[in-house]
Amino acid sequence: HPSLSVSRAALLPPPGGPGDQVGQVLPVESRPFTSYGSALHIALPQPARAGQLLTLLIDYEAGEGPGVCWLSPEQTAGKQKPYMYTQGQAVLNRSFFPCFDTPSIKFTYSATVKVPEGFTAVMSATSWEKQKDNTFVFKMSQPIPSYLIALVVGDIVSADVGPRSRVWAEPCLIEAAKKEYDGVIEEFLVAGEKLFGPYVWGRYDILFMPPSFPFGGMENPCLTFVTPCLLAGDRSLVDVIIHEISHSWFGNLVTNASWGEFWLNEGFTMYAQRRISTEVYGLPYTCLEAATGRALLRQHMDATGEDHPLNKLRVVIEPGFCLFLGINPDDTYNETPYEKGYCFVSYLAHLVGNQSKFDAFLQAYVNRFKFQSITADDTLEFFLEYFPELKEKGVDSIPGFEFDRWLNTPGWPPYLPDLSPGQQLMRPADELAELWAADGLNMEAIEAVDITGWRTYQLVYFLDQVLQKSPLPEGNVKRLSKMYPKISKAQNAELRLRWCQIILKNNLEAEYSKVKDFLHSQGKQKYTLPLYRTMWGGSEATRALAMETFSATAPQLHVNVQNYVKKILGL
Ligand code: BES
Ligand code: ZN
Repeated sequence: HPSLSVSRAALLPPPGGPGDQVGQVLPVESRPFTSYGSALHIALPQPARAGQLLTLLIDYEAGEGPGVCWLSPEQTAGKQKPYMYTQGQAVLNRSFFPCFDTPSIKFTYSATVKVPEGFTAVMSATSWEKQKDNTFVFKMSQPIPSYLIALVVGDIVSADVGPRSRVWAEPCLIEAAKKEYDGVIEEFLVAGEKLFGPYVWGRYDILFMPPSFPFGGMENPCLTFVTPCLLAGDRSLVDVIIHEISHSWFGNLVTNASWGEFWLNEGFTMYAQRRISTEVYGLPYTCLEAATGRALLRQHMDATGEDHPLNKLRVVIEPGFCLFLGINPDDTYNETPYEKGYCFVSYLAHLVGNQSKFDAFLQAYVNRFKFQSITADDTLEFFLEYFPELKEKGVDSIPGFEFDRWLNTPGWPPYLPDLSPGQQLMRPADELAELWAADGLNMEAIEAVDITGWRTYQLVYFLDQVLQKSPLPEGNVKRLSKMYPKISKAQNAELRLRWCQIILKNNLEAEYSKVKDFLHSQGKQKYTLPLYRTMWGGSEATRALAMETFSATAPQLHVNVQNYVKKILGL
């Protein structure tokens, strides 16, 4: 990456042999490769044999690259000390250290990190040790792809929340963090192990990031990074944790060999997440959560057009003739790999027709491909091998449901899993949304519905329905806002996102400040971009709101998110 400056490369003598430890200095050259990174060429003194072990020493300095984020004290929760974190996925770690920055290659790593007094360093590693002089030594003993190496340095402390889990956060958040997840993590890990096989990473810790962290969660092995928005006070956003835990098998053990098949990571993880959720919270609740996922896919496909090339599971990243013209994998992040991927895995389960048999397949799949990077062809071939009777029946080419169509045709999934077990939770929300969308409001019927006992995801689902029907007849949203302070004054980020979208779609100018406040309070990409898109697609007033909010918050946003917003606003 251009932000990385390599000063020197040397070939070290084979371990144990004679020779000086500084090594033999080698010529280094950077050559064009893609728009988001270049190739580091190191000339060896003589050709190496295939399989020969070489040790190269590379001196380099990392600076203001997109993978390494330097935050000022004001950008932290405590506002006292600076903070730094790295975010590798998808192709950002090339600005953190020189590497084969592709998910197709796995390796172990170790790191020695010296930090200033009063700071703590943590990494995605199986072991860490604090030595003298504020020096931390980390080792990851399992092979992982480059994008899973992660580092945080900040004023952070930890608290135990389970036999192999602790939470990490700035001191002012640690109590809230402990309260949110004390005693619940182990249950998810145990459920995951029962379904998918041993948890191989030793610890499972969670680090609460500063508000500008662009993702809900990032599955860095041993140490998941999460947005502080998860501190909702009621464990209502725990599905994100279950999701990141599920990556311990799908993504971190069995890895997509190319970012063009990102759905192998995320689609299988969504399926695994919902399997764990079903075991722990039951089918109705899990179907409700999956229905909100389906609504996100609907919104995404409506916004981009079903035929958009990114609405295929297999995305073309590198046109064969010229790498330089390829798409930046980080620009392909959207709902399709998640929710269409989930539908495809659900379709495979449907073909099998028996949950325990499919669970057994998933466990065999993990066991077969653990510590490897694979393609969708590997997955599907293994599926057909594992179920020879299905292969015999030719399930890969049922008209309309061909595996090839799933992978290579954009558009709405040809098969949707049955979410009707969630009806008991969704129906009241559907009915209430109908009432609020009516021309003359039937207040008697509305008042008869008591939402005080509704779970967060029921409210989310309700708001998605209202949003779909928006704009509502004049005055309805204003009344809705007054009637349900639980919604319009919510602190929960998932509710705030939907409420802000409703405010904008209905031109509820009196509450525009809520949109601004929400965008000032956090910088998650999946919250930020949809709001800017809606604002930019709206009235003069919402466009002005977008411009004003962006100029005030831009410096706080992750540079990728900044650039995506700029694109939306035509800047
Ligand atoms: N691995 C992703 C986050 C990611 C994707 C980072 C692509 C960089 C590039 C993570 O596991 C994820 O999917 N997070 C979701 C959680 C949700 C689906 C429960 C998020 O951040 O919203
Ligand atoms: Zn994920």
